[in-house]
Amino acid sequence: MDTVLRRGERDKERIVMARNYIQFLLNGETITEAHLDPTMTVLQYLRERKMKTGTKEGCAEGDCGACTVLLNALDGSKIKSRSVNACILFMGTMDGKEIRTVESLGTPEEPHEIQQLVAEKHGSQCGFCTPGIVMSLAALQIDSMPKSRKTIDEALAGNLCRCTGYGPIIDAAMAMKPKQVNQNSLAKLASLQHNETVKLSVNVYGEQKRFYDPKTLGELTRILTERPDATLLAGGTDVGLWVTKHHKTLNTIIYLGNVEALSAIEENNNNLHIGAGVKYADAINNLGQLYPQMGDVIRRIGAAQVRNLGTIGGNIANGSPIGDMPPLLIAAGAKLVLRSANDERIIPLEDFFIEYGKQDLHKGEFVKSTIIPKPTPSQKYFAYKISKRFESDISAVCMAMSLSLKDGICSNVRIAYGGMAATPKRAANAEKALEGQNWTEENIRRAVVALPSDFTPIDDLRASKSYRMQVAQNLLLKAWLEDQNNAPIHVLEADI
Ligand SMILES: Cc1cc2nc3c(=O)[nH]c(=O)nc-3n(C[C@H](O)[C@H](O)[C@H](O)COP(=O)(O)OP(=O)(O)OC[C@H]3O[C@@H](n4cnc5c(N)ncnc54)[C@H](O)[C@@H]3O)c2cc1C
Ligand code: FES
Ligand code: FES
Repeated sequence: MDTVLRRGERDKERIVMARNYIQFLLNGETITEAHLDPTMTVLQYLRERKMKTGTKEGCAEGDCGACTVLLNALDGSKIKSRSVNACILFMGTMDGKEIRTVESLGTPEEPHEIQQLVAEKHGSQCGFCTPGIVMSLAALQIDSMPKSRKTIDEALAGNLCRCTGYGPIIDAAMAMKPKQVNQNSLAKLASLQHNETVKLSVNVYGEQKRFYDPKTLGELTRILTERPDATLLAGGTDVGLWVTKHHKTLNTIIYLGNVEALSAIEENNNNLHIGAGVKYADAINNLGQLYPQMGDVIRRIGAAQVRNLGTIGGNIANGSPIGDMPPLLIAAGAKLVLRSANDERIIPLEDFFIEYGKQDLHKGEFVKSTIIPKPTPSQKYFAYKISKRFESDISAVCMAMSLSLKDGICSNVRIAYGGMAATPKRAANAEKALEGQNWTEENIRRAVVALPSDFTPIDDLRASKSYRMQVAQNLLLKAWLEDQNNAPIHVLEADI
C-alpha cells in the first residue's frame, strides 16, 4: 500500500513514505478511511456516515456554531482540545486528530455537568443551537483561562441562539466548574502520529480528487512543484466555504496544517517570526504582547471556532481587501517570507497586494512566514476594527497606525487600512502629512484632510463609500485623542 517517494535536494532526509488513507479518533474510537472525498466536511461525515446527528447544521459557513465539535490534537505530550466548526472542516485534514462530538459528553440518564446546567437553568427552548452551545462551553470548561463573563462571552460569540436568549445560557456557564482536558485518548492519539505524507486519491462521481498532507517543507515544495495548480489549504475558514457555499469542486489540495515549520513562532531581539500556518488562537498572545491593540483586534476576528482554525498566512494569502491582519501587520512594518522549491524571498507585506485578486505570489510559491519587528520604546501603535457587530463580523474598515515619537516629532509613520480600497493599502498622503511634524491635533487633522486623496472606497452592503471615508478619518483622530487621554474613547456603541 505504501509507496516510496524521492524528495527535493534540499531535504536532509532523502526518502519519505506516503500512505493513502487517514486514521483518526471519533469519540475515542480509532477509524481508518481510505475512500472518503477529502473535501467532505466533518459535519457531513458525522451526520451522514456515522449517524451522529447531535451535531447540527445551521448556516454551513462557520457563522452560527450549531455544528461546534471539539478537535483534539497532540501538543507535546498532552492533548490540546479546541472548539471548531465542523461545517467548514474537511475530512482530509483529520488524520492524526480526534473529533469529540456532543454524543461523547453525556446521556439522557447521565448528562454531563454542562448539559445538566443548561437544562436546569432553562438555557434551551427549541434546542437546535444547544448541542453547539454545550460544546463551546465544554471547550471553555477545559480552557486554562479563568472563567469570567468576558471569557464566557468570547466562548459563545460564535454560537447563535434564536429563541432562548443568552441570559440562562450564561447562568449555566457561570455555574459550571473548571475541568482538565480529558487525556484518555492520549495513547491512541500518540500512536496515530507519523512523518509520512498522506496522499489520498479518490474518485468522487467521476472526478479524481487528490489530497496531499505533507509534514515537511521539502515535501511541500516537491509536491507543489509537481502540482503547481493545487489549492493550498491551511485552516480552511475561507476555502471550506468555496465548497459549502460556492459548490466548487477542488480536485487537488495540498494541506499545510501538518507542515511543522509553518506552525513555528520564533523570536529574536528585533523580530517575531510567525509561521504562515500559525492559528490566530496561537498567535494572539505573542502579537498582543508586542502590540496590545493588535491583540484586541485579533480577538474580534470571527469567533473562537474560527480563530481555532484560521491562520495568519491564510488571511494574508487570500488577498482580501477586508482581511484584518494585513493592515495590522503593514502598520507594524511586517515583511513576508515567500518560499518555493528553489528560492526564498522577503518582501514588505504591503507589496504583496498588487490589485484586487492579484498577489505577488508566483506559481509553485507559498507564504512561509511573516516577520514582525518588535516595537521600539518611542513607537506608538494603534489599531481599530469597525464592524456592525463586535465579534464574528467582517470589518467595514480596519485601520492601524504606527509612528515613532521623539521630542514630540513623528517619524516612521505607517498608516494602513482595510476596507478602503481593492487591496489592503497604506495611506501615503496621510502619512506624509504627519511625517516630520509635531504630534498635535492640528497635524493629525492635516492627515485627516489628506486621507480622501489616498482612497476611493467602495459602496457595498457592509458600508457606504461616504461612511467608510468618514470612519477612516475619525479613526485617525480617535488614535490621537486616545493617546492624549491615555485611555480608550468609546464614542458610540457601534464605534468599537
Ligand atoms: C465565520 C467566519 C468569520 C470570519 N471572520 C473574519 C474576520 O473577522 N476577519 C478576517 O479578516 N477574516 C475573517 N474570516 C475569514 C478567514 O477566517 C480568514 O481569512 C482566515 O485567516 C483564513 O485563514 P485559513 O487558514 O482558514 O485559510 P484557508 O481558508 O485555508 O486559505 C485561504 C486562502 O489562502 C491560501 N493559503 C493559505 N495558506 C497559504 C500559504 N501559506 N501560502 C499561500 N497560500 C495560502 C489558500 O489557498 C486560500 O486561497 C472569517 C471566516 C469565517 C468563516
Ligand atoms: S453550521 Fe453554522 S457554523 Fe457550522
Ligand atoms: S434554543 Fe432555539 S435556537 Fe437556541
